[in-house]
Amino acid sequence: MFDTMTLTKAAAGLILTWLVLLLGKWAAEGIYHVGGHGEQAYVIPVEESGPAEDDGPQVSFDEVYASADAAKGEGLFRQCQSCHKLDGSNGTGPHLDGVVGRPVASVAGYGYSDALNGLGGDWTPDRLEEFLAGPAKYAAGTKMTYKGMKKIEDRANLIAYLASKS
Ligand code: HEC
Repeated sequence: MFDTMTLTKAAAGLILTWLVLLLGKWAAEGIYHVGGHGEQAYVIPVEESGPAEDDGPQVSFDEVYASADAAKGEGLFRQCQSCHKLDGSNGTGPHLDGVVGRPVASVAGYGYSDALNGLGGDWTPDRLEEFLAGPAKYAAGTKMTYKGMKKIEDRANLIAYLASKS
């Protein structure tokens, strides 16, 4: 015969065992979950990437211009000839003899756009370089419909040629 005390002890023992198991399972699950997210908790070292662009050493225009070849520039001037002359007369564009060092938009009798009239200053080699790389970018609204000369060496050679035609 079981007495009440024995029954209570047995029941308490069972409940305790069950509780311990439950706790253990819960704890294990907790650990498991931490483990499951382990990949995120893990800090994966991301390698620092080097410079975004590696175009080789940046060469300044001044350096390129210092060794520019006016003779090569003469050939490049063909791209300008349909609109520009070097004999003091204007065509679609103003004459370009003496343009290096000349005040911007200063050829008397030539009807410049507001874009060019608004620039001010002189045509230094540096400013010509920027203008010729992309006229519409340098002087938004210019009526010079020339898309631009890509290579910095070409621009330097052409400006050296123009400088020789002063
Ligand atoms: C399709 C015709 C056209 C071509 C090609 C062209 N230009 Fe022009 N250029 C113009 C016009 C038009 C203007 C006047 C721009 C304005 O008033 O907005 C001008 C203005 C200029 C000016 C400013 C002159 C000043 O007096 O301020 C320079 C410098 C110039 N061009 C250089 C060149 C060079 C160098 C080339 C060749 C790489 C070239 N252009 C090709 C039409 C042309």
